[in-house]
Amino acid sequence: MTRTPLISGNWKMHHNHFEAIQTVQKLHYLVDKETTESVDVSIHPPFTDLRSIQTLIDADDLPFALGAQHCHWEDKGAFTGEVSPVFLAKLDVKYVIVGHSERRELFGETDEMVAAKVSAIQKHGMTPIVCVGETLDEREAGDTEDKVLGQIDTAVAGRAKAQIASLVIAYEPIWAIGTGKTATSDDAQTVCHSIRERIRHLTDAATADAVRIQYGGSVKAANIAELMAQPDIDGALVGGASLDPDEFAKIIAYQG
Ligand code: PGA
Repeated sequence: MTRTPLISGNWKMHHNHFEAIQTVQKLHYLVDKETTESVDVSIHPPFTDLRSIQTLIDADDLPFALGAQHCHWEDKGAFTGEVSPVFLAKLDVKYVIVGHSERRELFGETDEMVAAKVSAIQKHGMTPIVCVGETLDEREAGDTEDKVLGQIDTAVAGRAKAQIASLVIAYEPIWAIGTGKTATSDDAQTVCHSIRERIRHLTDAATADAVRIQYGGSVKAANIAELMAQPDIDGALVGGASLDPDEFAKIIAYQG
């Protein structure tokens, strides 16, 4: 099974819609077409930028998929401030990040909420990027696998194999996010391998082989190639380094 790599830029709460347009235009200029034939690229700007970026991608036929950073699990209703997955699908959003550690830690998202969002995102034909990862304390206590695999169990419980096969999982050790510290490629591989093994155990070999697993946490041009060389790492969820089109273009072109 060959899995197409997926490099995703999570802009978090950065870049207004004018800055977003400039960044994507510059990125397009810097990334050559051949590269994007073998690597999927998704861009996850803030909600207020989505329409502008969708229009740009459409009008210039850019080789980037539109992504969102989060959504609600209901289609509509009295949820002030929330965004429906239906609206995202209407904007041609392809990938939605779910359960990012910042959402879990700062905004109280639970494993159960993550599971409900995964269902809603898939129901509307989009692909969830499900984030999992351990804190530094959990890692030091030897609890990495318990934490991460527990998050995986809840995210996939009760789903059909085809739905699991189409998920993207982002392994993001929380202590590596925005800190400049990256898990060594061996450590990242070990956890990504355990995730795939867990999915194999819960489903079957074909399903586990199909799932794309990203690594996230201080990915940059200088460390992407080594991470991507690992057999169970199929992509990267890139925060800070995706804001700079020069750096992000180099990450996308990691194959050289
Ligand atoms: P970072 O963020 O690349 O800035 O560490 C990654 C993420 O939060 O997805």
